[in-house]
Amino acid sequence: MATVDIRGLTKRFGTTTVLEPTDLSIADGEFAVIVGPSGCGKSTLLRMIAGLETPSAGRVLIGGEDVTDAAPADRGLAMVFQSYALYPHLTVAENIAFPLKVARRPRAEVRDRVAAVAETLELTPLLDRRPAALSGGQRQRVSIARAIVREPRVLLLDEPLSNLDAELRVRMRHEFARLHGRLGATMIYVTHDQLEAMTLANRIVVMGAGRVEQVGAPLDLYARPASLAVARAIGAPGINLLPATIDAVDGSGIVLRLSDGQMLRSIARAEGGSVGAPVTIGIRPEHLEPDSDGPFVGAVELFERLGPLSFAHLGAGDGGSLVAQLPGDRAVTLGERLRFGAQPFRVQVFDAAGDALPR
Ligand SMILES: Nc1ncnc2c1ncn2[C@@H]1O[C@H](COP(=O)(O)OP(=O)(O)O)[C@@H](O)[C@H]1O
Ligand SMILES: [Mg+2]
Repeated sequence: MATVDIRGLTKRFGTTTVLEPTDLSIADGEFAVIVGPSGCGKSTLLRMIAGLETPSAGRVLIGGEDVTDAAPADRGLAMVFQSYALYPHLTVAENIAFPLKVARRPRAEVRDRVAAVAETLELTPLLDRRPAALSGGQRQRVSIARAIVREPRVLLLDEPLSNLDAELRVRMRHEFARLHGRLGATMIYVTHDQLEAMTLANRIVVMGAGRVEQVGAPLDLYARPASLAVARAIGAPGINLLPATIDAVDGSGIVLRLSDGQMLRSIARAEGGSVGAPVTIGIRPEHLEPDSDGPFVGAVELFERLGPLSFAHLGAGDGGSLVAQLPGDRAVTLGERLRFGAQPFRVQVFDAAGDALPR
């Protein structure tokens, strides 16, 4: 069993806390993706799981066994980095075989395992080449092959695609999904790209500065972010966020007043005493519905046609902006004023501290 459990894991560099005490449990065979902005502590967390960084406090358990004090090589895991340093003077086959040679595995086993892993990653025709004769994507596949050749129980990946061009990233993303299916290994994948997180993860761990903001299935985080930070981190184009105040509270939710005086409803719940409180409302671009009486209004400043659908970027009068998703065949002219509404269950409300109101 290759579960990964971290308990109260903490990292300080001098007086700076890079990771506040953190608990997290990853199931055997799970594909967990850690997503968050640059500098929030993702790599530090992963490196502590790998044993490459010493925790200031807390424990790391792999398969239920406490490995906090174990050397990286004794943890049964492998790590793939953003910069896939291959040995330039070795062939692809020799690069992949390297960890097995270091572990002094018998020659026949080395040959068989390299062949099997090369087959999995479609590297068989390239085995005699040197890294200089490979494309970026092929090199990254070799570094993955090298990581999995010892059949790690847990595979850690730190932004493995961020050095690749956009087209290759999409292809490699699909390869990771397939690889996970084939290996059945527990995978922990770090990225700052929410699209990678949404498409690859069984569960997403959203990190903000030095802490885990929320853990959940991709669509749950998308639909029900617990905080503004998570709402912002998930979804492209991003969620629309607008300042508002609570105008009234009743049995079916709350009535909100936008800064231009327009009113709308949400099924979020608030205490009666919160009337007048400033909040932020969140509404996804695809949940803005054309409505000639709707509260959201703006002039089209930019129109992006993607084919099956389009995005209209609207400038609202007060300097704010809104993005609305429209059908691909909807004709729009720049400067045109559009008006939208949103169903109350689509309207998310966050308090002044950034926490989602319950519903
Ligand atoms: N060895 C170190 N000494 C001091 N600060 C560090 C060290 N390593 C990382 N940090 C700091 O810790 C924070 C988190 O870094 P990191 O885990 O690399 O973030 P991420 O991978 O999310 O971009 C950053 O502010 C970084 O500057
Ligand atoms: Mg990093």
